[in-house]
Amino acid sequence: MNERHSTPIPVILDVDTGVDDALALTLAARHPALDLRAVTCTAGNVSLDHVVRNTLGVLALAGASGVPVAGGMDRPLLEPARNASYVHGENGIADLRLPAHELTPEPVHAVELLRRTLLDAPGPVTIIALAPLTNIAVLLRMYPEVVRKIARITLMGGAIGQGNATAAAEFNVWHDPEAAQIVFDAPVPVTMYGLEPFYEVTCDHADAARLSDSPEPLNQFIGGLLTHLAGTTATTDRATPGTVALGDAGAVCAVLDPAGAQVRPAPVSVCLAPGVTRGQTVVDLRGFAGTDDAAARDARPRIDVVTNADGARYRELFLSVLP
Ligand code: BDR
Ligand code: CA
Repeated sequence: MNERHSTPIPVILDVDTGVDDALALTLAARHPALDLRAVTCTAGNVSLDHVVRNTLGVLALAGASGVPVAGGMDRPLLEPARNASYVHGENGIADLRLPAHELTPEPVHAVELLRRTLLDAPGPVTIIALAPLTNIAVLLRMYPEVVRKIARITLMGGAIGQGNATAAAEFNVWHDPEAAQIVFDAPVPVTMYGLEPFYEVTCDHADAARLSDSPEPLNQFIGGLLTHLAGTTATTDRATPGTVALGDAGAVCAVLDPAGAQVRPAPVSVCLAPGVTRGQTVVDLRGFAGTDDAAARDARPRIDVVTNADGARYRELFLSVLP
């Protein structure tokens, strides 16, 4: 641990576990520079029931049994839930089985766990949001007083360019565009870790094979997830041959090691209209107002948009927490 991390950073993860959420949970639970205070779950990659089950199982396997977990919103604000089991497997974790454990979710809604964890913390807490932003948007609407206890929201979502769920839209924002807009407009610092860095931070197929062959159950599980991801990401046009994108885990790296990410502050708008651009993030990198009203543009919150990340540096950071 370096000097900067002598006091661990308090964080809450909001997840839709999810293969790459499982990688992110493992990193956040095991890195000594993070103090994982709570994990909240929302529907996204798979149904809420699967997400809660997967999240508890991953935390148990990662040795983080004391972290409170709660289930939250089971669908977006306006639309029905639509899953991504075509990427993550029917159960959301590559159809792998996790070892039995004794963990159970907290008997409260995720929004209540978020509120309680934030307000009880001695200082501000960073929220790392790796899922559709429904829980976070409801939190901000129901309990706006929590903003003074949010150090930053680092969210995996959106894209400067091409989408993945659709040609225009990234999955998390596409799943609940209204929730995303609420978060982008919130009076808290926001980092958007979008699809550009998402696909830049990778492991090698050789890492996946080595982990799968390890005698350690956690490594075998991570190796299985990476092997599954290698298969699904190979079908996209963004995959570098021989590599596997670490996805959501990269957003955790950006909190642990911000110097590994390049950031440009910019207003971000979400396309809310129905049609082919619904859920697209329009990132205004121009630096001038163009034909827009300059005062209106300057009044918009500036989002710290990650334009690219140091893939090799973040790969090392991720692998460092495995036994
Ligand atoms: C995002 O969508 C989900 O499929 C992944 O877990 C990630 O959070 C990528 O678009
Ligand atoms: Ca996710």
